[in-house]
Amino acid sequence: MSLFSPVPLGDFLLRNRVVMAPMTRARADAQGVPSPLATEYYGSRADAGLILTEGTGPSLAGMGYARTPGIYSPAQIAAWRNVTAAVHARGGTIFLQLMHVGRIAHSANRNIPDPPVAPSAIRAAGQMWTDSLGMQPNDMPRALELAEIPSVIEEYAQATRNALAAGFDGVELHSASGYLPNQFLSPGANQRSDAYGGSVENRIRFVVETLEAMIAAAGSPGKVGMKVSPGMNFNDIQFDDPMPEHLALAKAIAPHRPAYLHVMRAGIGAETALREAFAGTLLVGGGFGKAEAERVLADGRADAIVFGTSYLANPDLVQRLERDAPLNEPDKATFYTPGAKGYTDLT
Ligand SMILES: Cc1cc2nc3c(=O)[nH]c(=O)nc-3n(C[C@H](O)[C@H](O)[C@H](O)COP(=O)(O)O)c2cc1C
Repeated sequence: MSLFSPVPLGDFLLRNRVVMAPMTRARADAQGVPSPLATEYYGSRADAGLILTEGTGPSLAGMGYARTPGIYSPAQIAAWRNVTAAVHARGGTIFLQLMHVGRIAHSANRNIPDPPVAPSAIRAAGQMWTDSLGMQPNDMPRALELAEIPSVIEEYAQATRNALAAGFDGVELHSASGYLPNQFLSPGANQRSDAYGGSVENRIRFVVETLEAMIAAAGSPGKVGMKVSPGMNFNDIQFDDPMPEHLALAKAIAPHRPAYLHVMRAGIGAETALREAFAGTLLVGGGFGKAEAERVLADGRADAIVFGTSYLANPDLVQRLERDAPLNEPDKATFYTPGAKGYTDLT
């Protein structure tokens, strides 16, 4: 089994096992409409087995960063349609990553006056970039009322319908990196005493119900995947041990037969434990080069490998890996800056 062999994933047969990682690039406009450059950026990477887009807001309430895109307005859906058309014209497969930031937000980056929502009213340590005020601490969130949780889940369902209307092949629930689903999982961020907090079973509930709602909205489990990153403490996520929650989550979603589980490894071996707990297709990412990717696939430890920074810097990554050609080095200075530099000017 090689990186360049086809692999079934949900409703699709991917032409290779090279997956482009979801990566925020902060080129959208102030209304969350993807830049016209995004069409070229994703289109030029269409020979990946699967493209996962940058984290994209399911709703206005789910936005928190400068210049990130959404999938809740007609203008956003229209702009994404150009992206999916460019990828499909080259025979590619592309899923939209749904990222509700929860408490990782600042009012200067939001188009509504409401404070960000979170499982509990606990401010996340850390700062984020705003175009008008520079670096700012994360806002103080308000705790979601029990009665409004179904409407937040419905935002993900509606976003799934919008993504399919925009031509995406599927959607990925971003349950990693300290955003809303990860906040529900974490005993640090989630101090609720109702059915969504306390026990492991309760803390996974929001994530499981959201995935179920996305599957129902998509009309097929084979169009919905999920990303997790146990062991990653980014965005002030705290666990004594993240594995009980993540193993329980993997077991709870497995009967729904989602298209895949995507694990960003963080040095605690979670991907090995999750391989055992989850019988479906497993994507693993985090610091991979070709040699290790081939080894992990050959050992059956993953079904496809997710490449982040190397894909960002090399639009023709698949061919470079195939030919063992040298890779461009990623330029951190242009990861999140507007415009073509470091985005569509790479060869
Ligand atoms: C510029 C940049 C933006 C990222 N944005 C996201 C994101 O929006 N959603 C997400 O799930 N992960 C995001 N990540 C994490 C990547 O998906 C990936 O897990 C990480 O880069 C590790 O893979 P790598 O070592 O191959 O780069 C981002 C990473 C980078 C470098």
